[in-house]
Amino acid sequence: MLELSHVSYSYNEFKALQDISVSVLPQALTAVIGPNGAGKSTLLKIIANLITPAKGKMKLAKNVKIAYLPQYSLLDRTFPLTVFDVVAMGLWQDIGIFGGLSKKKTESIYFALDAVGLNDFDSRSLSDLSGGQFQRLLFARMIVQNADLLLLDEPFAAVDEPTVKDLLKLITMWHQQGKTILAVMHNLKLVKNYFPTTILLAKKIISAGKTSDVIDPSNLAKISFTEI
Ligand SMILES: Nc1ncnc2c1ncn2[C@@H]1O[C@H](COP(=O)(O)OP(=O)(O)O)[C@@H](O)[C@H]1O
Ligand SMILES: [Mg+2]
Repeated sequence: MLELSHVSYSYNEFKALQDISVSVLPQALTAVIGPNGAGKSTLLKIIANLITPAKGKMKLAKNVKIAYLPQYSLLDRTFPLTVFDVVAMGLWQDIGIFGGLSKKKTESIYFALDAVGLNDFDSRSLSDLSGGQFQRLLFARMIVQNADLLLLDEPFAAVDEPTVKDLLKLITMWHQQGKTILAVMHNLKLVKNYFPTTILLAKKIISAGKTSDVIDPSNLAKISFTEI
C-alpha cells in the first residue's frame, strides 16, 4: 500500500525525521507510537501529501483514496456549520463544492451519523458539541469519504471513554472491510488489544512489525527521551 525509503524531514534546521524506511501492507491496522516530538504527526503529514520530504522517496499504491484526521482538528468549531454540513464535506471529492446532494448521498450522510451515534444531531451547530461528539462527527465524515487509507493522528485525545469504545469498534470494522489504517496512539494497552502491527518512532524507526514484538521493554529502552 505504502512504502517509504530513506525519508528525512526538517523544519528549517530542525531534523524531525531521519532516514525513515518502512512499508505498510494493504489492509494493515498499524499504530504509530513514540514520545512527544518523535515525528509521528510529521510522518502522517508526509503520507497525506501535506508536506514533502527533502530526502527519500514515498511510493503509494495507485488510485489510493486517503482520508486524514489531523491531531488537533483544523476545523474552527465556532464556524457556523451544522453537523450535517460537516459530514457532507466528506463528499466534496466526489461531488465538488457546487454539486448537489443526491438522495443517495443524503442518505449516506444520515447513515454515517447513525453509525457514530449522532442520529438526530444533524441540524445542531458545531459549537454545541462536546469533544467526544465532535470526534464522532469527524468519524462520520470519514465514513462518507470511504477512503482506502485512513490516517488518524491521536484520534482519542480528549475523548470520553464510551466514545473511545465506539470509535474503536468503527476502526475494527473498517479494518475488516479491508481498509488500511495508520493511527498515532498513546495508550499502549489499546495498541496491544486492537492493533496487530506497530511502528515505534523516535525521529528514526526504533522498531516496526508485529505489535507484541515492537512493544517490548528492550525496544522501549532504546528511546532516548533527552534526544528529542
Ligand atoms: N511547523 C513546525 N515548525 C517547526 N518545528 C516543528 C513544526 N512542526 C513540528 N515541529 C517539530 O518537529 C518535531 C516533531 O513534531 P511532530 O511530528 O509534531 O511530533 P509528534 O507528533 O511525534 O509529537 C517536534 O520537535 C516539533 O516541535
Ligand atoms: Mg503529534
